[in-house]
Amino acid sequence: MIYDNIINENRQWIDEVWEKLDKKLSVTAVRSRDKIPYTTKNGVHDSKTGNDITWWTNGFWGALMWVMYAGTKKDVYKETADNAEKLLDAAFEDVTKLHHDVGFMWHISSGASYKLTGNMASRNRDLLAAMTLMSRYNVSGDYIRSWNGGNNAGWTIIDCMMNIPQLYWASEQIGDDRFKKIALHYADMAMRDHVRPDGSVNHIVSHDVETGEVIETFGGQGYEVGSCWSRGDAWALYGFILSYIHTKEEKYLDTAKKIAHYFISNLVATDWLPLVDFRQPEEPVLYDSTAGAIAACGLIEIAKNVPEFEKKIYITAAIKLLKAMEKAWCNWEENEDSILQMGTEAYKHGIHMPIIYGDYFFAEAILKLKGSDFLPW
Ligand code: GLY
Repeated sequence: MIYDNIINENRQWIDEVWEKLDKKLSVTAVRSRDKIPYTTKNGVHDSKTGNDITWWTNGFWGALMWVMYAGTKKDVYKETADNAEKLLDAAFEDVTKLHHDVGFMWHISSGASYKLTGNMASRNRDLLAAMTLMSRYNVSGDYIRSWNGGNNAGWTIIDCMMNIPQLYWASEQIGDDRFKKIALHYADMAMRDHVRPDGSVNHIVSHDVETGEVIETFGGQGYEVGSCWSRGDAWALYGFILSYIHTKEEKYLDTAKKIAHYFISNLVATDWLPLVDFRQPEEPVLYDSTAGAIAACGLIEIAKNVPEFEKKIYITAAIKLLKAMEKAWCNWEENEDSILQMGTEAYKHGIHMPIIYGDYFFAEAILKLKGSDFLPW
């Protein structure tokens, strides 16, 4: 009731933004059909096809098309999504180049295709990716290894909370709990070693590869050790509520709420526009729109999963955040390819640029507000 009332009060804005998304993306879907975009150059999508095919964001373009298809059922989105999925097949050619972000790459693209169309080849791609994710589990250290490379065998990064839904899904699909069990181990490790008591998070944790003990933490893409990279906090916020949705374990809901409280209280200090790092110096003022879009999706899911009297906090925060970002940072020009501006790769590089997953999570959030229960994760 409270949730629906708040949605109804904002109905006009939600419908207008969805219409703007559809108007612009139905054009861009055709213009960028043969690309896998990451950012734009002079308003035009680049493409990660070719040498960059294993780049971690390469599922988001197809995933964005599926979100739009879920909300409109227009063929233009399905055709571009199907094409993006075929382009991404080249990433399976050398599996040694794959990493823990195979959930981002296939679960929300191929997985969405399977959910929305029943395409069995898409289901197979998602399962294959889940198998590679599971193969990164270190039995003695009890964690899923994040990146490849010589000196980081013991590293976990909070972002992987968004990859483990692929493991919950794979277990359901094949009727075997072993994928889910590893996901649960990962979520428990992240709750213990990444999430701090105040709801901020460590981006990177280095573990002893034999015992799993924490050796040290790193600031990663945030400002410094002990600060809080806002996108990492957003990955955790959305990741823990997704783990709750898949498992109904109360501890994951409580953890998502704790992170949400930290995230929301930091937004209040900056007119609802997220900084790159919630503990960065006053100057320069660096923002990251992607953190806001991811967090908005998580806040909406928390609102759906808490008792009636708690819903208002989370759904109001999500709408305030999305409205602030839409007003300040959305580009609705149809002759330019990106929508959400002011994304930031990391505190030290890639400042204030459009990034494909900003558009993806913004659209996913608006689709949720429209009332769709399509959950690609
Ligand atoms: N997963 C890497 C990032 O969020 O930049």
